[in-house]
Amino acid sequence: MLVDIVEGMPQGKALDLNEAGPVVGYEPNVVGTNGYEETAGSDIVVITSGFPRQPGMSRDDLLGKNKEIVGGVAREVAERSPDAIIIVVTNPLDAMCHVAADVSGFPRQRVIGMAGILDSARFRTFLAWELGVSVRDVTGFVLGGHGDTMVPVVSYTNVAGVPVRQKISEERLEEIVQRTRDGGAEVVKLLQKGSAFYAPSAAVVEMVDAIVLDQKRVLPCAALCQGEYGIDGLFVGVPVRLGAAGIEEIVEIDLEDAEKEQLQRSADAVRELVEAMKTL
Ligand code: LAC
Repeated sequence: MLVDIVEGMPQGKALDLNEAGPVVGYEPNVVGTNGYEETAGSDIVVITSGFPRQPGMSRDDLLGKNKEIVGGVAREVAERSPDAIIIVVTNPLDAMCHVAADVSGFPRQRVIGMAGILDSARFRTFLAWELGVSVRDVTGFVLGGHGDTMVPVVSYTNVAGVPVRQKISEERLEEIVQRTRDGGAEVVKLLQKGSAFYAPSAAVVEMVDAIVLDQKRVLPCAALCQGEYGIDGLFVGVPVRLGAAGIEEIVEIDLEDAEKEQLQRSADAVRELVEAMKTL
């Protein structure tokens, strides 16, 4: 099911997707609609509704407008699909996870934010280019909030098992980390209108597959921490085990002191947004 308030748009997208079915190899069962009735009983709901960034805007600038939109959507979803797993994509991501969780009342297993896979994919892309190797052999992940304070975790980043610090200087790594943090803005600046589509949607698909196929993938996602990593009551990007139940576990790993500090700073930035939302 594809839902959007713009008349004709979800219907047109659905038709276009259906017509790709014979070539790509799926049955043309996609339905586009402007209402929520047809979504009743969904297993997974991906919320992308909201305003995207324009050049010069930070994700946080979207707070007020998108709070209303995501809250409205989450209400419609929770009413009709009380057992669904919600994947939030709208920015500012971590704050919007709070909105979806509060409005739906769903437990933390079933409200998950998509950001870490996207940010990690950007990080891995830049590292693969740097070393001239396949992205398949670059393992690395990004934790923290989906914003300027995100934490690409260099200590665990490796190429086919070889720590990336053996191959790339600290200075150059810092540049790659910064490009990762600015990854969304780099695309926005080039497009001028709208933000990234392909990498975010690929990341969502990976999460949906992990849940639908009960794959028990370990992936960085925004999850409601309740004491993990010393963070309590905040959605922050952390490694989680994703399976049929949604977030089946928040995986705790040892971080270096500097990374721990960065993660706390990132959590603080999320807390500020959550506090700011209360006054909107
Ligand atoms: C990005 C948006 C989706 O990072 O936040 O491209």
